[in-house]
Amino acid sequence: MALKTSLLFALNKNGGSLQRASSWWSNVQMGPPDAILGITEAYKKDSNPNKINLGVGAYRDDNGKPYVLPTVRKAEEIIKSKNMDKEYAPISGTAEFCKQSILLALGEDSQHVANGCNATSQTISGTGSLRIGGAFLNNFFPGNKVVYLPTPTWGNHIPLFKHSGLDVKHYKFYDPKTCGFDFQGALNDINNIPEKSIILLHACAHNPTGVDPNPEQWAEMSQLMKKRNLFPYFDMAYQGFASGNFDKDANAVRIFLKDGHEMALSQSFAKNMGLYGERAGTFSLITTDKESASKIMSQVKILIRAMYSNPPINGARIATEILTDANLKAQWMTEVKGMADRIISVRFALKENLKKEGSTRNWEHITDQIGMFCYTGMTPEQVGKLTKDFSIYLTKDGRISMAGVTSKNVEYLAKAMHTVTK
Ligand SMILES: Cc1ncc(COP(=O)(O)O)c(C=O)c1O
Repeated sequence: MALKTSLLFALNKNGGSLQRASSWWSNVQMGPPDAILGITEAYKKDSNPNKINLGVGAYRDDNGKPYVLPTVRKAEEIIKSKNMDKEYAPISGTAEFCKQSILLALGEDSQHVANGCNATSQTISGTGSLRIGGAFLNNFFPGNKVVYLPTPTWGNHIPLFKHSGLDVKHYKFYDPKTCGFDFQGALNDINNIPEKSIILLHACAHNPTGVDPNPEQWAEMSQLMKKRNLFPYFDMAYQGFASGNFDKDANAVRIFLKDGHEMALSQSFAKNMGLYGERAGTFSLITTDKESASKIMSQVKILIRAMYSNPPINGARIATEILTDANLKAQWMTEVKGMADRIISVRFALKENLKKEGSTRNWEHITDQIGMFCYTGMTPEQVGKLTKDFSIYLTKDGRISMAGVTSKNVEYLAKAMHTVTK
């Protein structure tokens, strides 16, 4: 280290080019900026007072401001009054948080939980959960080390699973002709996936399309996957946030369990508790016997220990306070319903305003889709015009974060969308 420093110092006196050649890192090329964070950067620089940021996947109130849930504030006060220590959490996080999280997903009356058939560990929010899940499957999945993702899917799924060592392939999901679910396409593809492969499913509020299968379609997919011996991995980043009802949003997971599937499940409290930066989530493997669950748990712990040792404590403490206090939990669920309802109402307002502007296009999918995102069907050229002419920022695929739409900007947005899609 000392030698390297003195070498650099010597070269420094002799000019920049020599110094550059001496760097350990001259082979590192500039990477592309993150697509979504890049949009926010451009939005910040825009001086148009009517500008709108529809790129970011975080809830905003009707004034376009970040929203901290009142129950989260209350939980923070309770935690402060307890004067708790800052000791390490166990490798797999706090047991109570893990228990509350899996019960929220599977239901209070879950036989799997009652019988110890779940290996649940606290993770660094949903992303960390998927990464641990990927690592576990790469190490222990007995079938093909390939995860099939819906087309399209959340952008981070692809690098994340590749980084875990898994191969990534795709199955049909979204139909651009209807801006809805391509049920037949999905069934056909699933029917042709080699048996003993992994299929990733968005449990609700599919990102980026806002398109979810209905209960009958889920039931058929579950049967087909059982018949074809395919392993389901549910990514549940939006429970409660889609419909405002936690049980309804967990319906797909529960249908698959009733059909006797074992599964992997990633949960996040980023959206439904607004705990984005706190990084509270869980990873679960749900099995048909307790013994496998204990063995799996021991291996997940070994992976976590080597990757980051143990998870952060604060977000999990907040979530645990809310989930273990019946009154606070009921209030939280009402607050989540309030967020879901605002998103749903602003979807109707956008559709109505497009009609009012005179648009003759079919915008029915705006209200058929659900959750944080609306896949509008706008082309990259139309998106480019929205940004250039109206200072409205969104991803090139035409995805709108409905959280960025408010009663104050919806008319402006509708006028702009009509202008570019005429
Ligand atoms: C489908 C999906 N999965 C997982 C995540 C992970 O989110 P986080 O790591 O913030 O919990 C997101 C966040 O946008 C998502 O949309």
